Amino acid sequence: MMDQGTAYDLAPATSDRELTEVGAGTPMGELLRRYWHPIGLGADAGSVPHQVRVLGEDLILFRDGQGRPGLVHPRCAHRGASLYYGRVEQDGIRCCYHGWMFAVDGRCLDQPCEPEGGKVRDNVRQPWYPLEERYGLVFAYLGPADRKPLLPRIDVLDELGPGETLEADDSSLGGGGPPIIPCNWLQHFENVVDSFHVPILHGVFSGHQFVPAMAQMPQVEWSVTERGVRVESWRTLDDGRRLRRVTEAALPTLRVVPSPRLGRSGVVESIGWVLPIDDTHFRIYVAGRVEQPGDIGRMRSKMNGKFWWELSEAEHRQFPGDYEAQVSQGAITAHSAEHLRTSDRGVALLRRFLREQLRRVAAGDDPACVVRGDGDATLRFANCGNFIAAQA
Ligand code: FES
Ligand SMILES: [Fe+2]
Repeated sequence: MMDQGTAYDLAPATSDRELTEVGAGTPMGELLRRYWHPIGLGADAGSVPHQVRVLGEDLILFRDGQGRPGLVHPRCAHRGASLYYGRVEQDGIRCCYHGWMFAVDGRCLDQPCEPEGGKVRDNVRQPWYPLEERYGLVFAYLGPADRKPLLPRIDVLDELGPGETLEADDSSLGGGGPPIIPCNWLQHFENVVDSFHVPILHGVFSGHQFVPAMAQMPQVEWSVTERGVRVESWRTLDDGRRLRRVTEAALPTLRVVPSPRLGRSGVVESIGWVLPIDDTHFRIYVAGRVEQPGDIGRMRSKMNGKFWWELSEAEHRQFPGDYEAQVSQGAITAHSAEHLRTSDRGVALLRRFLREQLRRVAAGDDPACVVRGDGDATLRFANCGNFIAAQA
């Protein structure tokens, strides 16, 4: 009989550009630009101009001498020298070429080569973006000015338990990897609702990366919420009690994932944000309640007793984790070549939910969870966590 399904017959693979591309003017790029995103730790905004790349845009982050953070386009409004070489001063950032000085809101404060420091300097504005600081992170809004929402408060980060402090971290995926991950952000965001990779990738394939209970095949229920997709998964602990684990992927890129080590049961202790750097890179910011500074970093998975960056190539293949699985899907995965099944229901629901938001933005409406004015923008995640029910 003739051979069936050989690779020769493979159709050219295509990616779902609508869901993955984040540049200005793209559907997803515009959706993401309706929300605040963390773009740095508080300490990244300092007296030395710091380059960041966010949603495909190169920007300069700094903090003026008055302590105000600023985010501006690198190209100086005068004749284009980069503010990467600029000098941060009391009231803003000064370009190295002819000394134009810009405030954190882009206003031009000085043109030293012009008579009287520039009589019409008010006509010039360095392109800038608004920032707010919270939870140890610097958040930026890159969208249309008239659509700017409130920066949401998050209940599980506002309510600290006894002995707890708040910590922010930008070092990488929980499962290990470099700070900047070379693939599309959606490959990681979808992973939040991909409950079945936990027992396989983290439970069996690489040994127990978390705790033995997480290696069980869970019973899973997905539901669509007003802000994303929620997952409830059930497992039985050694002593017969039932573990109900509730996670959520919420707009715009929030990962609400309780510790898979189950060290502290109860309400989720940290929130992660997937920051799309551009179409083929992302990074993770985390803010969480910790007992000791450095706890978030210490929670990282070790494979074969080593951190991700300590592994040889042979060990990466023997003990693959989230980085290996997600990056190997490709810089932007080929959606046309996928075969989604029942265990991918969370992924399908999340994509559908995101498409619905794209339609709302295209129709001129606000996407979900946008609150302006004096509304209550608090996001409540106290129902997410590891909850242990009585004996089954
Ligand atoms: S190019 Fe920046 S001041 Fe001239
Ligand atoms: Fe994972």
